Amino acid sequence: MTRNRWNIAIVGPGKVGLAFGKVLRKRGDAITAVIARSATSALRGGKYLRCANTGTQLELIPGDARVVLLTVPHSSIEPVARDLARLTHLSFSGMAFCHASGMLSAAALAPLADQGATVASFHPLQTFPRDFPPEKIVPTLPGIWYGVDGDAKGLRFAKQLASRLGGKTVVIPTEMREYYHAACVVASNHLTALLGVLEEMHRALDLSGATYHELFRPIIETTLRNVTATSPVRALSGPVARGGTETIGRHLETIRQHTPELLPYYAAMTLATVRLAMAKESIDEHRAAEFRGLVDAYHSLHPPSDKPR
Ligand SMILES: NC(=O)c1ccc[n+]([C@@H]2O[C@H](COP(=O)([O-])OP(=O)(O)OC[C@H]3O[C@@H](n4cnc5c(N)ncnc54)[C@H](OP(=O)(O)O)[C@@H]3O)[C@@H](O)[C@H]2O)c1
Repeated sequence: MTRNRWNIAIVGPGKVGLAFGKVLRKRGDAITAVIARSATSALRGGKYLRCANTGTQLELIPGDARVVLLTVPHSSIEPVARDLARLTHLSFSGMAFCHASGMLSAAALAPLADQGATVASFHPLQTFPRDFPPEKIVPTLPGIWYGVDGDAKGLRFAKQLASRLGGKTVVIPTEMREYYHAACVVASNHLTALLGVLEEMHRALDLSGATYHELFRPIIETTLRNVTATSPVRALSGPVARGGTETIGRHLETIRQHTPELLPYYAAMTLATVRLAMAKESIDEHRAAEFRGLVDAYHSLHPPSDKPR
């Protein structure tokens, strides 16, 4: 592992595996095997990473591979680790393996650790959307964090790998792994869902002249800047922070009329905003209880429905 150039095998040339492979190859490491579930996927990955050794068999991993990236879906990590540990041509004690799942710790690679290999979890705190081509994803890697765990050797390896990818590591306590992943979902998927709600509301407004993104971008960008420059508590403005129960009541009613399927979202986010306004001390417990009562009344009158319009 002290050699400057790593021979790397990629098992799972999907969005994450291809982006990792591209950056590592560019910085001088060698991609010496690309293995997928289907030959087509392996071939496509090999072409992208300029590696001719591709296929569906783990036996294709050359004996001189020093690093194996298991960038397979999280349900395949443990079975693939078990199969890898049975390979007789690999010198495990000189090798390092990692997976990229946010949900699983390094323990998912235990069969490889039992063979003497260095193992780590290595979860990129970034989004790799299925519909985006690798060339759009690769530039989003520099500067990101990797949620990692492992023993001392595993952590050292994870740190080296992150540094080769232009990123940094943060150690996630094993017992908090799932909670950490839930936080990542809030950061990316919930933000995307929130913008999806906004797009639906813009559609219901039926305005001409500006897309939802053009119209709302300035307020979104200023809000994000304010929050990152100070804190969510300090950056909070609007009717909940001002104690405007009547306004929120009217919002719930107009949303019920025009886009009832968005009521559960608005109700849940009102409750989250009330918690923030309490922390800001801009509303008292009495006013907070009024907001909660308003939301509860809407929930009981109009049970949540997720039917598409
Ligand atoms: N996508 C994200 O935003 C994101 C973010 C952070 C972390 N992650 C994690 O990164 C990992 C990879 O995710 P991804 O989005 O890159 O997945 P992906 O695009 O679906 O790619 C998965 C790859 O694994 C291959 N594969 C599946 N089962 C296999 C097996 N048993 N043996 C060998 N190869 C196998 C697939 O091959 P075929 O095409 O032939 O099926 C495909 O090349 C996951 O653990 C995920 O949780 C993903």
